Amino acid sequence: NTYDFGLVGLGVMGRNFILNVADNGFTAFGNDLDEEKVNALIEEGGNEEKVNATSSVATFAQGLSTPRKIMLLVPAGKVVDIVIDNLLPHLDKGDIIIDGGNSFFTDTDRREAYLQEKGINFFGAGVSGGAKGARKGPSIMPGGSRDAYQHVKPIFEAVSAKYKGEPCVAYLGPKSAGNYVKMVHNGIEYGLMQLTSEIYDLLKKAGDLTNEELHRTYASWNAGRLQSFLVEITSEIFEQKDDLGDGHLVDKILDKAKQKGTGKWTSQNAMDLGIPVPTIDVAVSMREISALKEERVKADELYGRPIPESVVKKTLVNKAESALYFAFIITYAQGMHQLADASKEYGYELELGEIAKIWRAGCIIRAALLADITQAFKADAGLQNLLLSPSFLDKVQETVGATRELVAYGATNGIPLPGLSNALTYFDAYTSSRLPLNLIQAQRDYFGSHTYERLDKEGIFHTEWED
Ligand code: 6PG
Repeated sequence: NTYDFGLVGLGVMGRNFILNVADNGFTAFGNDLDEEKVNALIEEGGNEEKVNATSSVATFAQGLSTPRKIMLLVPAGKVVDIVIDNLLPHLDKGDIIIDGGNSFFTDTDRREAYLQEKGINFFGAGVSGGAKGARKGPSIMPGGSRDAYQHVKPIFEAVSAKYKGEPCVAYLGPKSAGNYVKMVHNGIEYGLMQLTSEIYDLLKKAGDLTNEELHRTYASWNAGRLQSFLVEITSEIFEQKDDLGDGHLVDKILDKAKQKGTGKWTSQNAMDLGIPVPTIDVAVSMREISALKEERVKADELYGRPIPESVVKKTLVNKAESALYFAFIITYAQGMHQLADASKEYGYELELGEIAKIWRAGCIIRAALLADITQAFKADAGLQNLLLSPSFLDKVQETVGATRELVAYGATNGIPLPGLSNALTYFDAYTSSRLPLNLIQAQRDYFGSHTYERLDKEGIFHTEWED
């Protein structure tokens, strides 16, 4: 019984994570069926006392100190169940399995119940930050048994990203809380990616910005209030030359975005909860529309589009910065709102301030804004929506005007800005004390006797509407 930490699945993420564990003074043992991956890790680790690997599940389990702490970094879905069943005969009561993949939260609940019967603790822990994050410090979102977390905590705190010295990991809640939070993280990720992409489209079509200018623009934004991982990598993407030909790589990439499902799950579950997250919804829809490349090409020939009126570059860039900031805020607001509601629905007891806090570094949606969001939820743990936080009032007021102008420009000039316009519509609807949905209630009652409530009297009403 020697190694402190075990890891199953030595793909890029697994290999990087285990090397990170070893770098932080813990001994680590890897397991993968693929001998090549096993050997690659042993070679890269350099010292078998600190980091070792085996293709044998029995050897792996025997080589871990108890309670065993075994993290799985394998593809979400059936593989997780198979790996768990392969491990089970070699485990003892009190051992801990941590699923670090993007598993669907109800799968995590099912697995936790299954393993609880056998005396094994199960964690669903979202890990964000890609391959680099896994190696240098990811944001980790664990959910499961609070007691068992104490065994994992020192390792996770050591390997996680740090924001001003504070680890980007915290115990988030029972059951599938960790996977749920990671799912919403990814929904927000989809929203922010859609927004950065459509602003790029706008700058290019309306302002004729070259890739060099786009690079400089996003880089300068990244030095200000929009500072974030996604804006930063976007600025770098515009610089990348094509190694297979002339020009910039970004112009050669097929405009069809793939997805593995987490953004879609966020939207689907938001619908189930009855929480509006339209910026995330439309980000998913845009990936779907992007997949219809051939149809889009045909339709483009049929309909064409207006030639964008020219604008002053500098003004456009400034407005775009404001609008992107506005829409980023709205996207986080929607995601946090979903988390607040899911917490009640599923009994997660989430602390939104803690979640925003561990998103400040390491993860894909890390951004300067998250420090403000952390403060807003720390100041008021019961905050219903970020838009109701006094600290966000000025930020939103100051940027909504530019957003209106750009959304109007996009509509007039045939440039699709679905993320931006949905963020604005969400804002306008959320801040309307009176919406025209009284008419929908009247229609429902008219054709289906579905009843309605009144502004001026208590009770449930139905009217015999006159034909
Ligand atoms: C992260 C990411 C990651 C996710 C990719 C791909 O936080 O590191 O969210 O977990 O797998 O972003 O997602 P799509 O293939 O759905 O775009």
